[in-house]
Amino acid sequence: MKKKVTVVGAGFVGSTCARRIVEADLANVVLIDIVEGLSQGKALDLMESAPVLGFGSKITGTNNYSDTANSDVVVITAGLARKPGMSRDDLLKANADIVGQIVKRIVEFSPSAILVVVTNPLDVMSYLAYKLSGFDSRKVIGMAGILDSARYRYFISQALSVLPSKVEALVLGGHGDLMVPLASYSTVEGKPVSELLSEEKIEEINERTKRGGAEIVSLLKNGSAYYAPSASAAKMVESILLDEDEILPCSAYLNGEYGIDDVYCGVPVRLSSQGLREIVEVKLTEQEKERLYASSQAIKENIKKVL
Ligand code: LAC
Repeated sequence: MKKKVTVVGAGFVGSTCARRIVEADLANVVLIDIVEGLSQGKALDLMESAPVLGFGSKITGTNNYSDTANSDVVVITAGLARKPGMSRDDLLKANADIVGQIVKRIVEFSPSAILVVVTNPLDVMSYLAYKLSGFDSRKVIGMAGILDSARYRYFISQALSVLPSKVEALVLGGHGDLMVPLASYSTVEGKPVSELLSEEKIEEINERTKRGGAEIVSLLKNGSAYYAPSASAAKMVESILLDEDEILPCSAYLNGEYGIDDVYCGVPVRLSSQGLREIVEVKLTEQEKERLYASSQAIKENIKKVL
């Protein structure tokens, strides 16, 4: 039987993620939003592309949580984007309210689902979803490491004029200014990037990666990125549904791994149909360890503001 994925939030990230899932024929999708007609309109438009594109998966738009019942995976993208005059803390509290309400409804109708949290600040929202759902922490995973690593990989590919897919790289830590790009785990066809680029160039790429989201916001002016974020969330859904067991950087609940406790933070993990199969502990330098720790503590500070 086809798997069922609910995408909560029919904004740009949610609807593009839903589109990627049905176009790849990964699952039937329910797209839910509070705005009447929005998810229904987008779902109908997407279904009307099926005869041209040839996918067999179905997408349904709804405003009712009962339609999301028995989902295998739920991707939470709903939330506010920062508006002029709004502080990060204002956003934090507003989105905590939204995510809290969503999680309650999801748990009611899909008690066995795996939650993929995308709403920002997503490491904090993942923790909140974990606590409020009462789910095992392996069933609640946040997106961002794939996105941040994708940006890092793209910038490296540009610097070396190679195909982006030839670059492997890891960015750990929270999805914020303190994220930790790991040059030591970045390679092009097996060759370490440190042998291919100068230290200055690597530092420049690190900084651009950390500001990757802001760079898009400043170009779009009244919106934020959604192509790469939705591709990253859809990649997690694929890895879960197809039991791919591939190592991906995601925001996971840490319970002593990397010397970090009781917080969600970006680390390499393996995903499977059960959710998070394992947290992979890669060897870090002392400086990388300190940076990862600092990033995790900044997330903890924000968690305290909403829980
Ligand atoms: C970004 C925002 C969406 O990094 O978090 O693009």
